[in-house]
Amino acid sequence: MNVMEAIKQRFSVRKYKAYEIEDEKLERVIEAARLAPSARNLQEWRFVVVRDERMREALSEAANGQRFVAEAPAVIVACAITSERVMSCGLHCFPIDISIAMAYMTLVAVEEGLGTCWVGAFNSDKVRDLLGIPKDVIVVGVLPIGYPDIEAPQRKRLSLNEIMFEEHWRMG
Ligand SMILES: Cc1cc2nc3c(=O)[nH]c(=O)nc-3n(C[C@H](O)[C@H](O)[C@H](O)COP(=O)(O)O)c2cc1C
Repeated sequence: MNVMEAIKQRFSVRKYKAYEIEDEKLERVIEAARLAPSARNLQEWRFVVVRDERMREALSEAANGQRFVAEAPAVIVACAITSERVMSCGLHCFPIDISIAMAYMTLVAVEEGLGTCWVGAFNSDKVRDLLGIPKDVIVVGVLPIGYPDIEAPQRKRLSLNEIMFEEHWRMG
């Protein structure tokens, strides 16, 4: 599968088969994050892989009760160990770096026949407490992962013309 195929096939999977994920597959998903770019090569990402059923239930509660978080056979919790560094453009590095790594993981997951759904709606203090994550570490995203038990829905996206401007900003 090439990258564009993975991009086209990826969608947010909120229903998973009850199968476990093979260790090698999960490792290849995390390997994609490991190889991602980061500002100044900080690599400030750390990932907690949760398979334990009771912990997934607790994570689901911490994610505003989103059930599919508990139903996925594994949940990857993406964290940043460094949050202070700011680029000269004024933006913090960590949400960008960790997001790139997470995006890479979602694509390799597709290649492995797996599905993911980026979960941004969660209570970080609760997630931190549950997983023993130190106070100075930031939880950036929660990524349930598993074999999809649902067909890809229709894509709702803006057209290329609406998002791509040539040479200068297009008003209106
Ligand atoms: C930063 C971010 C946070 C998100 N948080 C949630 C979430 O908490 N719950 C959820 O069901 N989907 C969440 N999503 C998934 C989006 O709803 C989904 O990506 C979007 O509707 C486009 O659909 P697609 O991923 O199937 O292409 C999130 C996506 C991103 C990128």
